[in-house]
Amino acid sequence: MIMNNARTGRKYSINTTLIHGGNQIDERTGAVSIPIYQTSTFKQDGIGKNRGFEYSRTGNPTRKVLEDLIADLEDGVAGFAFASGMAAITAVLSLYKSGDRILISRNVYGGTYRVLDKVFKNFGISYSILESEDPEDLGKAITDDVAAILLESPANPLMSVTDIRAFSKIAHEKGVKVIVDNTFMTPYLQRPLELGADIVVHSGTKYLGGHSDLVAGLAVVSDRETAERLAFIQNATGGVLQPFDSFLLIRGIKTLSVRMDRHVENACRIAKYLEASEDVSRVYYPGLETDSGYEVNSRQAKNGGAMLSFELKEGHDLGRFFESLELISLAESLGGAESLVCHPSTMTHASMPENIRKAAGIADGLIRLSPGIEDADDIINDLDHAIKESGA
Ligand SMILES: Cc1ncc(COP(=O)(O)O)c(C=O)c1O
Repeated sequence: MIMNNARTGRKYSINTTLIHGGNQIDERTGAVSIPIYQTSTFKQDGIGKNRGFEYSRTGNPTRKVLEDLIADLEDGVAGFAFASGMAAITAVLSLYKSGDRILISRNVYGGTYRVLDKVFKNFGISYSILESEDPEDLGKAITDDVAAILLESPANPLMSVTDIRAFSKIAHEKGVKVIVDNTFMTPYLQRPLELGADIVVHSGTKYLGGHSDLVAGLAVVSDRETAERLAFIQNATGGVLQPFDSFLLIRGIKTLSVRMDRHVENACRIAKYLEASEDVSRVYYPGLETDSGYEVNSRQAKNGGAMLSFELKEGHDLGRFFESLELISLAESLGGAESLVCHPSTMTHASMPENIRKAAGIADGLIRLSPGIEDADDIINDLDHAIKESGA
């Protein structure tokens, strides 16, 4: 896979860009791992004469490497690093103004829904939830006040797939921007800007960081004007990623492809095991040929990714299931080296009112799994044991 690097004009494969994107060698010392520039401010050589950095909220050399790296990986013109995925989403939504409406896909991350419902609504930015992933429904949902669509594909937690290319085409015909939360896929598996989207956001906390040891957010834009506006918002509102966390995130990204390959391999094995299990009523994983999103996902992503959800047949005791797991931890978050499981209706999507959650198809019995990079047989044995323990 060849990447066309919009910023430098050079072409590299994604595996190379993960290691060298953002020019990671420190210009001053030649250090091949960018140092942690743990400084708040920078000495200036005279009035108006700085060496590229003035103050670490505005810009920091360690953060800059990360920002250029994610821009290279997503094939955008500029990247921005924030203190969390929600800070990145908040900064991107701050591009809009009172009177604007944002359309969101029906099962976005609960926190994205919450910030629109409880914060941006107070500033006159409204939102509507798309009823389906059908591009025809999108056309009908774009009213005159719609300024942007914010979607996830696969979306959290039902792994529903949206045709990013078709959505972008329809949105652009009506002058609407497309923002894609690419957290679940990462640029290794899917690059929304290449498919026509305008802005990509990430929770860097997940696969990009990859080790469940930091909280971070990233945004990448495809045009200079938005880049300037977002740089202004980033500096004005100040929710930036700190130098040490920027270093950790760069370090995590270096091994993204090898980790993702194992995550995906494990997810495929587990999805097939769950699909064949007599105790499981439904599996949601766009990597399965039987999944409704399989075809569209195969057109726009390298594979089905590594996140999956499932429901146990009636009569199973969910509490017992979670308590019987030995290896897999019940925890918020995903994308770490260790397998994590969560109960969306009381955890990641608890901030969505019950009626909206139900309308989005998020059942109370839904279980979301983020397979780690342990041995697949061990993960499957752990699931198998807990499913049997929870049985009627
Ligand atoms: C898809 C998605 N987007 C955004 C976020 C928010 O990211 P953070 O927790 O880093 O603020 C999450 C967190 O779980 C997520 O799953």
